[in-house]
Amino acid sequence: MKTQAFERELTACLPEKEALTGLLHDSMEYSLTAGGKRIRPMLVMEFAKLCGGTEEAALPFACAVEMVHTYSLIHDDLPCMDNDDLRRGKPTNHKVFGEATALLAGSGLLTHAFETLTSPKAIALNGAETCAKAVALVAACAGIDGMLGGQMIDLQSEGKQVSVETLQTMDRLKTGALIRCACELGCLSAGATDEQIEGARVYAENIGLAFQIVDDMLDVTSSTEKLGKPVGSDSENEKSTYAALLGVEQCRILSRELTEKAVEALKIFPGDTEPLKNFAEYLLHREN
Ligand code: IPE
Ligand code: IPE
Ligand code: MG
Ligand code: MG
Ligand code: MG
Repeated sequence: MKTQAFERELTACLPEKEALTGLLHDSMEYSLTAGGKRIRPMLVMEFAKLCGGTEEAALPFACAVEMVHTYSLIHDDLPCMDNDDLRRGKPTNHKVFGEATALLAGSGLLTHAFETLTSPKAIALNGAETCAKAVALVAACAGIDGMLGGQMIDLQSEGKQVSVETLQTMDRLKTGALIRCACELGCLSAGATDEQIEGARVYAENIGLAFQIVDDMLDVTSSTEKLGKPVGSDSENEKSTYAALLGVEQCRILSRELTEKAVEALKIFPGDTEPLKNFAEYLLHREN
């Protein structure tokens, strides 16, 4: 995916700035354009390509999933959640705009994601039926059976010793669901077969869990400068993480095994799976 093309499209997706609501617009734009690795949009685009779709058609879906992800980060950083001051190397949204506006900016990005999935352009390129399926997918992955459910388990597990099974469920929901959403959106846009969608799901579930395990490890092993978000946030909040429960060494082994399983799942695809294989490896070895 051409990064610049995506960044341009993402900004272009935002609603027009109006005089009376300009602050909310600025707040949404601030977090959306603050950087970020753009992992989920990349997954949309790569699966679309692998399944024979076009970049143009997949772009609105890629933008929508990044909006939902960015909303989840704005809310995740709020004082009532993880209470973090730094995100993507910049002060968190509520530090700049205040808690109330940050709350609205998150909600604004969530709702705007659905407008983006059903924009005239998205419908012209993907067809109304595919866009309706994309709406249902994003709603399910962002909601109580997805990201939000995982965030609830995360909060309720603070200060407790929970089982590995609970951690797995938590991470599968809070992080895995949006990653799976991204992979499936790419497939949807390309009109992939059921077998391909299933392959994408298995890949996503494995990189998704590995991704959160690495995120938990980096909170212990990295530096705030490298990460662009505060290290030690999890221990400060007494979070239940794989790193806290199993230790960093076990986490390394587990995340490597999960990455191998993900790569294995790509075998059913006839096209060039090298980019997605490399992507899984990059996620495993990333430093931020
Ligand atoms: C951070 O996600 C939140 C988790 C789900 C662990 P990313 O590491 O993808 O954050 P950005 O988008 O690059 O800032
Ligand atoms: C967040 O998990 C997952 C979300 C749904 C945002 P974390 O709380 O570990 O994410 P970071 O470390 O703050 O990015
Ligand atoms: Mg959190
Ligand atoms: Mg957090
Ligand atoms: Mg984290």
